[in-house]
Amino acid sequence: MRSLIPFNDHWLFWPDDVGNHLHDDAFARVTLPHTHKIVPHHNFDVSEYAFVSTYRKRFMLPEARGGRRVFLDFDGAMMAATVSLNGHEFPEQRGGYVPFSLDISDYLRDEGENYLVVKLDSSERPDIPPFGYVVDYLAFSGIYRDVWLRYVEPCYIRDICITTHDIYGDQPGYEISVRLVNSGDSDLDGDLACAIGGSSAPQRPQSFAAKVPARGEALVKVRGRLEAAARLWSLDDPYLHSATLTLGQKGAALPLDRVSEAFGFREAYFSKDDGKFYLNGQPLKLRGLNRHQTYPYIGAAASARLQRKDADILKYELGCNIVRTSHYPQSPHFLQRCDEIGLLVFEEIPGWQHIGDSDWQALALRDLRAMIERDRNHPSIILWGVRINESPDNSAFYEASNTLAASLDSTRPTGGVRNFLKSQFLEGVFTFNDFSNSIQPPIYRPHLVTEYGGHMFPTKPWDQEERLVEHALRHARIQDTSYGMEAIAGAIGWCAFDYNTHYHLGSGDRMCYHGVMDIFRLPKFAADFYASQQEPGYDGVRWQGVVLRAATLWTMGDRNADGVDPLVVFSNCEEVDLWFGSSYHGRFRPDRAQFPHLPYAPFVIPGLTEPVLWGKNFQDLHLVGYIGGQMVAEQRIEAGAIPSQLLLAADDAELRADGQDTTRVVFKLTDKYGNRLPYTQSVVTFDLRGTAPDGSPLADLLGENPFALMGGQAALYVRARHTPGVVTLRAVTPRLPEASITITLK
Ligand code: GAL
Repeated sequence: MRSLIPFNDHWLFWPDDVGNHLHDDAFARVTLPHTHKIVPHHNFDVSEYAFVSTYRKRFMLPEARGGRRVFLDFDGAMMAATVSLNGHEFPEQRGGYVPFSLDISDYLRDEGENYLVVKLDSSERPDIPPFGYVVDYLAFSGIYRDVWLRYVEPCYIRDICITTHDIYGDQPGYEISVRLVNSGDSDLDGDLACAIGGSSAPQRPQSFAAKVPARGEALVKVRGRLEAAARLWSLDDPYLHSATLTLGQKGAALPLDRVSEAFGFREAYFSKDDGKFYLNGQPLKLRGLNRHQTYPYIGAAASARLQRKDADILKYELGCNIVRTSHYPQSPHFLQRCDEIGLLVFEEIPGWQHIGDSDWQALALRDLRAMIERDRNHPSIILWGVRINESPDNSAFYEASNTLAASLDSTRPTGGVRNFLKSQFLEGVFTFNDFSNSIQPPIYRPHLVTEYGGHMFPTKPWDQEERLVEHALRHARIQDTSYGMEAIAGAIGWCAFDYNTHYHLGSGDRMCYHGVMDIFRLPKFAADFYASQQEPGYDGVRWQGVVLRAATLWTMGDRNADGVDPLVVFSNCEEVDLWFGSSYHGRFRPDRAQFPHLPYAPFVIPGLTEPVLWGKNFQDLHLVGYIGGQMVAEQRIEAGAIPSQLLLAADDAELRADGQDTTRVVFKLTDKYGNRLPYTQSVVTFDLRGTAPDGSPLADLLGENPFALMGGQAALYVRARHTPGVVTLRAVTPRLPEASITITLK
């Protein structure tokens, strides 16, 4: 039988290419995911982490082989890895965004210690996509995703590809293509049993003949139908079924292999007739943001919890129904969470504007194959990006990529993101980065806008209020246009989170301030706009998902010519009452004249020059939101606030003591109502306490400490080590009471 064993622990790391020289004692002990270097959140150079390093791991086989083959599966190592085991060197694996597997069976020692070395080149290698020219993102470094040790019998299941049909019928169908490998010397005369989980009616057990020649492969098609109508996978009810395939040998008591995979019954397509996107037969306007997989301090080496959190932020805090994984395949943990919560995904191959030579292109096609083979069972994925982002037309290359994608997945269309309209249209969906500050009428159908905003209006969380508001309104206007344009499938903005970049781009501090949230995933006003587009729901007791956020710092003189006119409020309420201190200013409705098409038009409240007079009568802002006449939300912002509290909050109260589990800790200087004060630049100093019996720390604090605030808020990360216990994080800043939190490590 198969065993899949996490292999993230007990690695040794040295930040140079030392091969077998240098004693283990000199190395750092690390757990994956790992980055070559913890960097500041901005103002650092690529050379600080983009070098060749050495990882080592000494291990005894955790289980006896018993005739099985053993693979080492890397989910991702940035950027080129040369692995050797017990002196045998495998060919260099090039490319950091897709997984690779090595069959290490012939080089393993069953008894005694095995010695594994990974020489990892994290430099920006021009022979490997996306590099070769300037790229507007950083790849970062390290063995930054999970590694697994996988045991399989000589005859095993290589992968499964699940498709569904007749999904609306009484007995929806599924077809599972199972690739079987036989590395043994005798033919296999076996069977493949299939069990589907998650259906309301129990499934009759099914079995299919599985014959695999010695030293060969076979593809077995498992076809069946549910016994009852399927609960569909949708955005509101992302219901997952499971398929479990068990490979057996005729007459043998024990199975040879078993794999399980989640999938969904759902129909997703882009219509060539009307240009719309349809999910389960209903048109759905796609509203989303681009996501880079990079984080402050740790680069791309984010644990499962942080990956999943990003999906939650996109769905629940930003109200998106789609994310584009710009510009590469992203973490399996992120995609799994998208399946679980109902967030659609446009996933694409690594690259940025540049197409390399034929070897480079072959690697890009290899990336495409690896991406689709890894991810085609995710119901959340609706589109494959088969073109290098914003590259010129290239018939041969893109005919090949489209043909390859079609051969690997007949159920999803391809897209190919370009930034010019007149182009050779080889894909299923015309995917276009539209930086016209509007949406240009489509030439081809279907047409999906895959970027807007971004460099057209970079905005920092501590920019002047007018810029922050205009940044948000630009997103609102483009989404309004998208909702109003029948012929486009939707629009995906640039981008969700600020990200680190090269000095050739961005604001000079190695940062693109293009996010609707900052690099810590904390909102700018533009994030409030997205949040406000979610539909609130009544659960019988109270309204859920109500958003009421004034896009103002509420100051008398931050805007040009003073005042707050107009006051923009992002809300999904029907009406909003506005108070100055205790005096009532009026009741307002969404601005449907400016935003006729959005699900929830912003409130644009004019005339605040009258009560808000320069130097006079400036009082707290108080907003009250109503749905169906019922008060459902309120917001207060203090006038003339000076920092009144230091807030400290962890996303999670508990972590697994597994050496990699990590949570974000947000800190803010706020007014008495909890609104951040963007012009406070205080220094905040942290102290993380909690020690294991041997005196070593229970957890690590990742980030700048002390932290010199910009924008009134930021975040650090707490990463568990291997011993359970409780850690306390204390934060101090001058003139305010200290704040502290505890996190339990289990
Ligand atoms: C696009 C590009 C993105 C990002 C963006 C900034 O051209 O595709 O990766 O650089 O510009 O606005």
